[in-house]
Amino acid sequence: MFVKTLKAENFRNLERIELEPSEGVNIIYGENAQGKTNLLELIWLFTGFKSFRGAKDSELVRFGEDFSKTEAEFFDGRRVQKAQLVIVKKRKATLNGVEQSSPSALSAEFSAVVFSPAHLSLIKDGPAERRKFLDLALCQLSRSYQSALYSYNKILSQRARLLKDIYMRPSLEDTLDVWDEKLAEFAVFLIDKRRKYVEILSEHSKAVYEGISSGKESLKVSYSQGDFEINRKEDFVKRLRALRKEDILAGSTSVGPHRDDIKVEIDGMAARTFGSQGQQRSAAIALKLAEAEIIKEISGKSPIILLDDVLSELDISRQDYILRCLGDRQTFITCCDPYSILRSCGGKTFYVENGTLTEKSRFDIEVKPPPQCEDREI
Ligand SMILES: Nc1ncnc2c1ncn2[C@@H]1O[C@H](COP(=O)(O)OP(=O)(O)OP(=O)(O)O)[C@@H](O)[C@H]1O
Ligand SMILES: [Mg+2]
Repeated sequence: MFVKTLKAENFRNLERIELEPSEGVNIIYGENAQGKTNLLELIWLFTGFKSFRGAKDSELVRFGEDFSKTEAEFFDGRRVQKAQLVIVKKRKATLNGVEQSSPSALSAEFSAVVFSPAHLSLIKDGPAERRKFLDLALCQLSRSYQSALYSYNKILSQRARLLKDIYMRPSLEDTLDVWDEKLAEFAVFLIDKRRKYVEILSEHSKAVYEGISSGKESLKVSYSQGDFEINRKEDFVKRLRALRKEDILAGSTSVGPHRDDIKVEIDGMAARTFGSQGQQRSAAIALKLAEAEIIKEISGKSPIILLDDVLSELDISRQDYILRCLGDRQTFITCCDPYSILRSCGGKTFYVENGTLTEKSRFDIEVKPPPQCEDREI
């Protein structure tokens, strides 16, 4: 899929923009704090999800203004659709002129994958970040996962409350059995979906990483449940029983999908602990590009790729592979210096200055002068 036209009014520092992006690679360049990431954030919001920067809706409206209005015309693989987002305090979405009950309704029509420097936490941080990645990816693909996750989290917090009550009044312990059964039902559903997803993710990310590292390193990704692997409801209930005393003392549930992780290894070693900066960045990008590949496989729609300042810190061969890999997908890449990217891709180039976008032809962009050569006497 691709965005045909994009308009925005009073979105962050983008006072008024209108652009017709390329169906291929779009380079958004400019100095720091000019509005490059704001533009990616704007495109991302048409997925119906919240800002990838964790911003509240009201923070997206340009300072001093009452509302922001944005519009995207996009081709979803079959037809052209039009989505609008109006933000006053909250986002309100309209699709083809019909107001939607929630912006999340857009997720069925518009899909994108975003990589920003904050996504390095996918490799560098603890398991919570990787669970968030898994949950977000699966929620984009499956409504049943979305509702099972909601139910699981609700039961989990009810169980935690009950565990604390039992600590004060041990006679309540019998009531826990019903909750354990319910929790187990959703837990095994989530684990099964996650495991299948990680299997496919592993295949795709391995292939991408091999390309990024020119075949020199290998990436392995696997779902990890710690010491006990649980696949069946009965086993999950048994495990909860075995840990019940500890759970009552802690006032929380110590096993389940909310404690699981994705193991990411480069050449057999934990990427989090032993990976170099470039390796960690490459692994995070490989996971994100694999995510895009899976969305395409399952939904038949190639998601829009948003890459916020990803190429810095990577050597030329890694950069080249990623740019080649993007192939025929619509991509938006932000950077401060466009020269290195222009080397290997076509598409369109936009210069951002103080919230204003100007399309530049390749020839407009001043060619960097060659390094000064010293005159040598022969
Ligand atoms: N609600 C808002 N109204 C007006 N301006 C805003 C709003 N929110 C953020 N900004 C401004 O937008 C500017 C540009 O932000 P953005 O993150 O897009 O910069 P950038 O071009 O990606 O810079 P960098 O290269 O440093 O990442 C910031 O200076 C910020 O103060
Ligand atoms: Mg930025």
